[in-house]
Amino acid sequence: QRKKIVVIGSSNTDMTVKAQRLPIPGETILGGTFIMNPGGKGANQAIAAARLGADVTFISKIGNDLFGIQALETYKSEMIKTEYIFTDNQNPSGVALISIDSFGENCIIVAAGANMSLSPQDINKAFNSIKEADVILIQLEIPLDTVEYAVDMAYGLGKKVILKPAPARPLSVKLIKKLYAIVPNRVEAEILTGIKVSDEKSAHKAAQIISRKGVGNVVVTMGKNGAFVKEGDACRWLLAKDVETVDTTGSGDVFCGALSVYLSEGYSLMESVAFANTAAAIAVTRIGAQSAIPFRYEVDIT
Ligand code: RIB
Ligand code: NA
Repeated sequence: QRKKIVVIGSSNTDMTVKAQRLPIPGETILGGTFIMNPGGKGANQAIAAARLGADVTFISKIGNDLFGIQALETYKSEMIKTEYIFTDNQNPSGVALISIDSFGENCIIVAAGANMSLSPQDINKAFNSIKEADVILIQLEIPLDTVEYAVDMAYGLGKKVILKPAPARPLSVKLIKKLYAIVPNRVEAEILTGIKVSDEKSAHKAAQIISRKGVGNVVVTMGKNGAFVKEGDACRWLLAKDVETVDTTGSGDVFCGALSVYLSEGYSLMESVAFANTAAAIAVTRIGAQSAIPFRYEVDIT
């Protein structure tokens, strides 16, 4: 029996160019081939959870346009339940402009469009799916009041809510207190705490500060260095496998999707982080966000 995961969040189309390095302001550089791929933090996490073995419902908003239609097709082909993907007739579907350097690091600008009109009323319409979920996964590429509303609802129903605080912004203690786990990367951890996260010591400190705001489980993802985990009083740094990085876009989303799947199946937080580390390590060896997401068997045999 597949566990039920509800992902609430953004749907984008990613327009990506890889270059030797990222341009500086005012500069034009020549890059490689242009690729267009489905993306969006919410969608990436939904597809990751589905490919890794969960029964996924995605709550999102798309524009009444070609990109929206294409995105919907993608989700259906991934066996994701799409009944709560709403259409906004005023705003276009979300688009992300992505530049990648030769190390696979990226810079992203998101034109959120329809994602920014996903409303508390939409969350209300999806109440039944939230009520039936084993785990809820959410990010910050939709309005903050919608995030707060959804987290509140899920918490009230006694659900485990996992937040990927991206794009990073300061968050209220009121919101953080209702989370089961929060999964910032280094940059996001710094924005949440003011601490520059570069090693075990600084990751520990940042995790502690976030944890004091009222969330027991904090996972700071450290890119190729794996993840720092704080589970109550237990702290551990779980290293990731050393791989050839091609494109890190969406690897944090794969990590969160994988983490949610394993948690929903009843594994411990540490076991879930190890699984998520492996899934993300596979994703960074491939180009694109969703195109890079591994299937369950790929992670299981790694
Ligand atoms: O996390 C990666 C994602 O961020 C990309 O797919 C892009 O759409 C932006 O939302
Ligand atoms: Na990738």
